[in-house]
Amino acid sequence: MRHLLSIEDLDRAGIERILDRARSFAEVSEREVKKVPALRGRRVLNLFYEASTRTRSSFELAAKTLSAEVINFSAGGSSVEKGESLKDTVLTLSAYEPDLIVVRTPFVGAAGLVAGWTPAAVVNAGDGKHEHPTQALLDVHTLRERLGALDGRSIWIVGDVLHSRVARSNILAFRALGAEVTVCGPPTLIPRGMEALGCRVEYTLDGLRGADVVYALRLQHERMTESFVPSLREYAARYQIDGRRLGPHQVLMHPGPVNRGVELAAEVIDSPQAVIGQQVAAGVVVRMAVLYELLAGRGAPSGATVVTFPAPQPA
Ligand code: CP
Repeated sequence: MRHLLSIEDLDRAGIERILDRARSFAEVSEREVKKVPALRGRRVLNLFYEASTRTRSSFELAAKTLSAEVINFSAGGSSVEKGESLKDTVLTLSAYEPDLIVVRTPFVGAAGLVAGWTPAAVVNAGDGKHEHPTQALLDVHTLRERLGALDGRSIWIVGDVLHSRVARSNILAFRALGAEVTVCGPPTLIPRGMEALGCRVEYTLDGLRGADVVYALRLQHERMTESFVPSLREYAARYQIDGRRLGPHQVLMHPGPVNRGVELAAEVIDSPQAVIGQQVAAGVVVRMAVLYELLAGRGAPSGATVVTFPAPQPA
């Protein structure tokens, strides 16, 4: 694999290989010195045109834990504000010879365009409402740690599917690992033709108790150009996951950030069923595994040492 632009770049074996490696990297996070030399001499550019807390910080931590150099770029405060285009920005920053570019933009397909402008490997960290493949990988990792294999598990994805890159990537990843996926939300927030991705569509939560996993999505106000729900109160009445709707044996997930009191009630965010914090933690080891997958097998830059993981430990 040269780039990770979509979950469709991976088959089941590829997903499992990355997640098995992520599991092996978890041990590094428990060390006193959280660092291995696996990507020493490699350079990772974080190119963020859109706000991010989890994805950006975890890619930075992942790269640094693997001993790569990290360059962080945010469009705010850069020459993008003077009108520099995405292409010119990528060409300019390519002068630093990054080995890998992590790119987040509000533009569908932008990560694929970046991959055509640079010799570096490219990871799509979210391109508009298209895809967010590393979110899907970290979610599958979190679920495998909690439930074991996903084959035959029922996963309901509830909320604003229309504007969600997470929904699309997660449906593909959950299906690839054998889960049965249902998407649920108001008709205005479910795109037509979702069944083509291999999932069922429901417009009420009546069957929610049959799910093993409830994956709530954020109402993405920033991507809404019109009113998709009559009111937040009405939306919450019909689709909010609260203590009444969530069963004691169901796993609750959310990609963050959460609109408290809209898609999730406070009592379920802090419940034992919620794995929202585990999802965030998984972001580091899963992104380490993705960086390793894309960089460790490539020809090393001159003077760099690429070692296989696990690296030998000093005595
Ligand atoms: N889930 C997710 O992508 O979060 P951030 O926008 O904070 O990176």
